[in-house]
Amino acid sequence: MKVGVLTGGGDCPGLNAVIRAIVRKAERQYGDQIVGFFDGWSGLLEDRSMCLDVEACRGLLTRGGTMLGTSRYQPYMFDDGVERVRATIRKHNIDALIVIGGEGTLAAAARMHTDGVPLVGVPKTIDNDIGGTERTFGFDTAVQVATDAIDRLHTTAESHDRVIVVEVMGRHVGHIATWAGIAGGATMVLVPEEPFDIEAVCESLKRRHKRGRFASIVVVAEGAIPLPGTLEIAEPTIDEYGHARLGGICNVVAQEIEERTGFETRVTVLGHVQRGGTPSALDRVLSSWYGVAAITAVHEGNFGTMVAFENNSVVCKPLEECVANLKFVSPELLSVARTFFA
Ligand code: F6P
Repeated sequence: MKVGVLTGGGDCPGLNAVIRAIVRKAERQYGDQIVGFFDGWSGLLEDRSMCLDVEACRGLLTRGGTMLGTSRYQPYMFDDGVERVRATIRKHNIDALIVIGGEGTLAAAARMHTDGVPLVGVPKTIDNDIGGTERTFGFDTAVQVATDAIDRLHTTAESHDRVIVVEVMGRHVGHIATWAGIAGGATMVLVPEEPFDIEAVCESLKRRHKRGRFASIVVVAEGAIPLPGTLEIAEPTIDEYGHARLGGICNVVAQEIEERTGFETRVTVLGHVQRGGTPSALDRVLSSWYGVAAITAVHEGNFGTMVAFENNSVVCKPLEECVANLKFVSPELLSVARTFFA
């Protein structure tokens, strides 16, 4: 078979490991040819690609980012987008696509499948918010980076009797904030799943400091939302793909904390540090597993599916169902996090 591969959306650790696994299994077991399309759907829209073989994938397992490049463009942004993708597929005699991406890229993949393109999806994102799978690759690495940062912030916060507000990624969900908050012993975690009351946050910090604790770490997900009418957050700018550019809520939260409590407060925005660099061991294994499962699904004709981690196994699920709903942090885990608040 001739199989096309693309990586779309924000990059994340493990993308290269998925590509390597697809190529290894495809070439060695099935005798396939793999074509890598550059920069997400753009490579198919503009017919830009390279041949991928085992040799081209040497050293990829540990490398962050994606050797194919990525973008947030997708075919449905253009009137002739679907036709252009079809023409590229025809030109290269591609039998099927493997689409590695997050919510936007996979939603486009689900539509492309409905429009007759045989494909299999692979869920990536540090945010871990794709429905239908217990895990996306990249998440474990991001949680470790955030936890390491929180560990470091504890000692400086304690030395100066300060509050430090740490902002992590998570535009719709608070998986990174919750996991890194629990792992790093944060004083409080603010996530999109539960709108927060800044007054209650400050009161609880005051109580904690009255009990003799002299430093606090507040972890805030970039997409955290204040209770209506409690705090003014500036509207985010919208990028060229229609995505809200988040980041900076920690500044508002920190300013309010300092004003309302009198505690000296600082901010740290972890930003893209969470997305870069080498994947954790867990993400390397998960990415390799997903890659092998995706090319296997192609050979079984299991199109319109997404590979998903469930009950310690990788299975295929209908792509359309997976992209229909985001996966939020469970109330159970949020309540575990709350046990350690303030
Ligand atoms: O990959 C998802 C994500 O990490 C979001 O949490 C974040 O809002 C977004 O990427 C930022 O991506 P970029 O800066 O590349 O637009």
